[in-house]
Amino acid sequence: MRILVTGGAGFIGSAVVRHLVLDKGYEVLNVDKLTYAGTLTSLKAIDNRPGYRFLQADIGDHAVLGDAFASFRPDRVMHLAAESHVDRSITGARDFVQTNVMGTFNMLECARHYWQGLPQTQKDAFRFLHVSTDEVYGSLGDEGLFTEETPYDPSSPYSASKAASDHLAKSWARTYGLPVVVSNCSNNYGPYHFPEKLIPLMILNALKGKPLPVYGNGANIRDWLYVEDHARALDLIAERGRIGETYNVGGRNEQRNIDVVRRICELMDRYRPQAGSHERLITYVTDRPGHDARYAIDATKLETELGWKAQESFDSGIDKTVRWYLENEWWWQPLQQGYDGKRLGLLEPQKQAVAI
Ligand code: NAD
Ligand code: DAU
Repeated sequence: MRILVTGGAGFIGSAVVRHLVLDKGYEVLNVDKLTYAGTLTSLKAIDNRPGYRFLQADIGDHAVLGDAFASFRPDRVMHLAAESHVDRSITGARDFVQTNVMGTFNMLECARHYWQGLPQTQKDAFRFLHVSTDEVYGSLGDEGLFTEETPYDPSSPYSASKAASDHLAKSWARTYGLPVVVSNCSNNYGPYHFPEKLIPLMILNALKGKPLPVYGNGANIRDWLYVEDHARALDLIAERGRIGETYNVGGRNEQRNIDVVRRICELMDRYRPQAGSHERLITYVTDRPGHDARYAIDATKLETELGWKAQESFDSGIDKTVRWYLENEWWWQPLQQGYDGKRLGLLEPQKQAVAI
């Protein structure tokens, strides 16, 4: 089995690549541009494995991706490369449109060209998994869950760019017959998570005794899934998902942001006790523009049709995650040269106009 993975140097992509190489014994070609969010140190466990190859490239580069398809001859594509941080999309949407929309368009076109030239049996077996987010569905009120039928209603430039890419992917299945499957997942957490996102940012700030910035009143709800559970789900969907279908992925772990931050403080009090609880560092700050109130996934289709179940509870996953950051400074310390934890995504009206 040969799998072309895009974005394999990122948070989820690296968990996927490690799973495919170490647990499944597959051959993997990892195509990644190595933006600020990608680092090959996340792949240290596999970088000498004979079945693993890395290509530094932009998914929007037609010639390079065309050659990669022709020479690697994948049985499947798992497309994860994207700009992923909502706050960055608020102040700099261009890269999001370029990579998430145009880059996905290029991946679909390169895959279609390659797939059309395959012998029939390989053509039938080929799959293109487009990896997306629950944020395309917009915000929930107090009740209800996102299902695969929930209408798209994205709020941020990030989620709008992902929604556009989902529509492109599905249309390539309907119009050209490309065997596409789409997954929409909730918030991931775990090891190798870039420390701009809520959970790793709070752990590292707490470690350094810095303020823990909670947006708004902290009552926004996210549905947390341990990243290795997501990696297993993606492998299963790529293998057994029905063509043209969407599968929602989520761990049934809804938490208010403030409760997540308090839980991290409790764990930090246990593993790195200081004079006084880390909770004293919690600081309420200006809310995120367009901040979605609540996400929650109904993963029934994935659970019943493909037999997937999350293995990690939030209690076990967050404990592992805090301990991983405390034990793996070698991984996160170098990343802080590129990003020092400062607030991102606040509107400054005079700077908002973007020249096209
Ligand atoms: P990430 O930001 O950690 O990693 C993204 C990777 O893509 C990086 O390695 C980066 O170098 C690479 N990349 C970016 N632009 C590229 C380009 N133009 N060409 C090639 N490579 C490029 O992201 P993540 O959190 O691992 O998310 C991976 C995917 O999963 C994304 O598509 C995201 O939308 C989706 N997703 C993320 C979450 C989450 O909670 N993090 C949840 C659901 C879905
Ligand atoms: O739902 C899936 C999405 O989850 C993915 O598609 C995105 O790629 C991923 O980044 C994530 O998006 P969020 O915006 O939910 O994640 P983030 O970690 O940025 O924020 C989580 C919540 O915490 C959100 O309600 C905003 C809040 N927050 C975030 C930061 C960085 C804070 O209160 N303080 C912070 O400093």
